[in-house]
Amino acid sequence: MEKLEQQQQNSTKTVGEVLSSSEFIKEAKELTKAPLKYEYKYTCRECKEEKTISTDRSYLEWQLPKFCPTCAKIRQEKEINSQRIKRWTEICPPLYLESDRNLLPDESARIAYDKIQDYIFTEKGLVVHGLTRRGKTRAVWQRMKKGFMATGLEPKFSFGGMFSLNISESFEQHETTALVKSFGTAPIVFFDDIGQMIFTERVQECLFTILEMRCAYLRPTVFTMNDIGDTLKAKFSGNRGEAFVSRLKEFCEIIKF
Ligand SMILES: Nc1ncnc2c1ncn2[C@@H]1O[C@H](COP(=O)(O)OP(=O)(O)OP(=O)(O)O)[C@@H](O)[C@H]1O
Ligand SMILES: [Mg+2]
Ligand SMILES: [Zn+2]
Repeated sequence: MEKLEQQQQNSTKTVGEVLSSSEFIKEAKELTKAPLKYEYKYTCRECKEEKTISTDRSYLEWQLPKFCPTCAKIRQEKEINSQRIKRWTEICPPLYLESDRNLLPDESARIAYDKIQDYIFTEKGLVVHGLTRRGKTRAVWQRMKKGFMATGLEPKFSFGGMFSLNISESFEQHETTALVKSFGTAPIVFFDDIGQMIFTERVQECLFTILEMRCAYLRPTVFTMNDIGDTLKAKFSGNRGEAFVSRLKEFCEIIKF
């Protein structure tokens, strides 16, 4: 403020002297260039510490920060966290919202569960296979939750059986390409129990294309299935099964439950 007054005093024009409009604009520009600094003290409502804020505009009392930068950041993170907790209940099927590793059928299921929780997603995906009721789906949802809470990234999910239904429906509506593209390019996709799909030629073609796209675009895919070997291969026609399973083995980490 003092600086501004000083500059006004130093102005070559005296009071009453009329400035031409271009001169006036030039002078005004010079004046507004002057770096104005205001300093205010305020008390953070959270940590109760007195803080100073340095600004280049004047604040009225009610415009002063209510929280210091550290407390504001913590509050913002808490807010994001509670929004994500709420959102997760809309993404994850209720049965899988909470899992307790001690309730899994045996120790080898618990070891597999822990491996999945420690898995770090890169462009490599995850194939979780094993007999029925071992906890595969649970383990994956729990890992997805951890990822979502940390990053906010929502997995694109499909029950195996639902995927084949979606493909048939989308074909009637001429939307299959869009559906395949959306699965092919989503940041992270989770196909649960792919053995439950009805492997029509069209479903095979779509599933294969999605896997091919996801490998090419370095996006991780997570699959759960009961079998990754010959039984899965046999669901595809021609040599598609061989090509599909080899891709899974090359582009995914395989965890047996
Ligand atoms: N809250 C829980 N936490 C952990 N495990 C649980 C809980 N409730 C039930 N279980 C156990 O989880 C297992 C089923 O989990 P899940 O549905 O993930 O199996 P799955 O391997 O995906 O089976 P499927 O191949 O049939 O789909 C059962 O053994 C069940 O006893
Ligand atoms: Mg399952
Ligand atoms: Zn504070």
